[in-house]
Amino acid sequence: MDEKETKLIVTGGSPLHGEIHVSGMKNAALPILFGCLLNENPCIIRNLPKVTDIELTMQILECAGVSIRRIDDSSVEIDAKNAQPMKAPPELVRMMRGSSYVLGAELGRFGHTKISQLGGCAFAPRPIDQHKKAFTCLGAVVMDGEQFVFADAETGDRLRGGNIVFDIQSVGATVNAILAATLADGQTTIENAAREPHIVDLANFLNTCGADIRGAGTSIIKIRGVDSLHGCTYAVAPDMIEAGTYLAMVAGTGGDVIVKDIIPQHLKSVCSKLIEMGVEIDDQGDAIRIRSDGILDPVRITAAPYPSFPTDLQPQFGALLSIGLGESIIIDEVFKSRFQYVEGLNKMGADIQADTERGMAVINGVKYLTGAKVQGTDLRASAALLTAALMAKGESEVTGIDKLKRGYENIVEKLIGIGASLREEEI
Ligand code: EPU
Repeated sequence: MDEKETKLIVTGGSPLHGEIHVSGMKNAALPILFGCLLNENPCIIRNLPKVTDIELTMQILECAGVSIRRIDDSSVEIDAKNAQPMKAPPELVRMMRGSSYVLGAELGRFGHTKISQLGGCAFAPRPIDQHKKAFTCLGAVVMDGEQFVFADAETGDRLRGGNIVFDIQSVGATVNAILAATLADGQTTIENAAREPHIVDLANFLNTCGADIRGAGTSIIKIRGVDSLHGCTYAVAPDMIEAGTYLAMVAGTGGDVIVKDIIPQHLKSVCSKLIEMGVEIDDQGDAIRIRSDGILDPVRITAAPYPSFPTDLQPQFGALLSIGLGESIIIDEVFKSRFQYVEGLNKMGADIQADTERGMAVINGVKYLTGAKVQGTDLRASAALLTAALMAKGESEVTGIDKLKRGYENIVEKLIGIGASLREEEI
């Protein structure tokens, strides 16, 4: 975690060719790993991405008394038999948004929980009122203090099933509701649930351990609480955002690449926009072949909860559309202020006006971007700037690589493997 700060030196302008492998989905692996806290029997989790947020999660779990045996680069055995609540160290919790899942998992297993206030990528305000609503509906008393969030089951050490109707679709709140309800006494219904593939993956994992969760992937999830879970072996689904990032890169640089080991269905909204831009997309079952001449038609993208276009790819597509043949519009309905990447792109010669009150960016396509020194301010902003650097004429220096590594496994090596010209240097 205390790795030296680095930058990427990128020489842009070369088309990408070959095959690129996609790792396990960070945003599914996080709830699945925290979900292991519900289980007194060991689980083997495979296809974990080697990224900082997963390492951090394992450190938090170890501090809570969970024993973790590394099997290989992407698999671990997790034994939470001796886990204890309220041990998550504040300095680690504050480093990552996904640590909010400690709340649901500990409440579900022990009936009480306490974590420090959350951190994570700070591109927008990220309240947890819907998480608290879910816990309250399941019979917990929640206190959200200045430094810590506490929650306790009113009836001793077990929550009771209840009806949760979310005001908005929230990935994190839906995950926490599922984690809290899996071992609760009775049936829970979650309405207006998030439908992201990460939610389905969490439910599949818990069901493989003996939970009774139905409807994940739709907006109504029904959970019949069970007394305990058994161990299992489970492989995390592929990362649709990592895959979508590579698709954006190839669309922008031009080239012919097979993005492999993915579920193309998860990328329907993304591929439909690429096709609208004039890019050739071929669904190969567990891979997508993308062919692009780097000349892109302008489009209008609205990022919204799944199955709409994902907010986590909005910045990378902002980079792509900066060289579109005309005016493109991006609207982000999930995080209105997620346009921090625009400054870096404009430094590279893009012509983008972002309005963070309205959650909108107007992009006037330019002929080409020019290499520059740019700084990524969060995970996907760094990915957007790297996308732009690969597309640009000349050399760029991209910092904020620690943020990139929170969500992209071996990204430098993977990109070199398809012909990108970049190297990592210590700052
Ligand atoms: N929201 C509330 N109240 C809540 C919870 C959310 O108002 O209690 C709002 C948020 O402010 C936002 C919207 O609801 O406007 C949706 O937020 P959501 O809860 O779905 O986001 P999250 O769970 O905090 C996860 C991902 C993010 C991804 C979003 C949206 C993880 C660990 N994080 O965050 O991933 O952007 O869903 O899909 O799964 C990333 O990977 O780069 C990343 C930021």
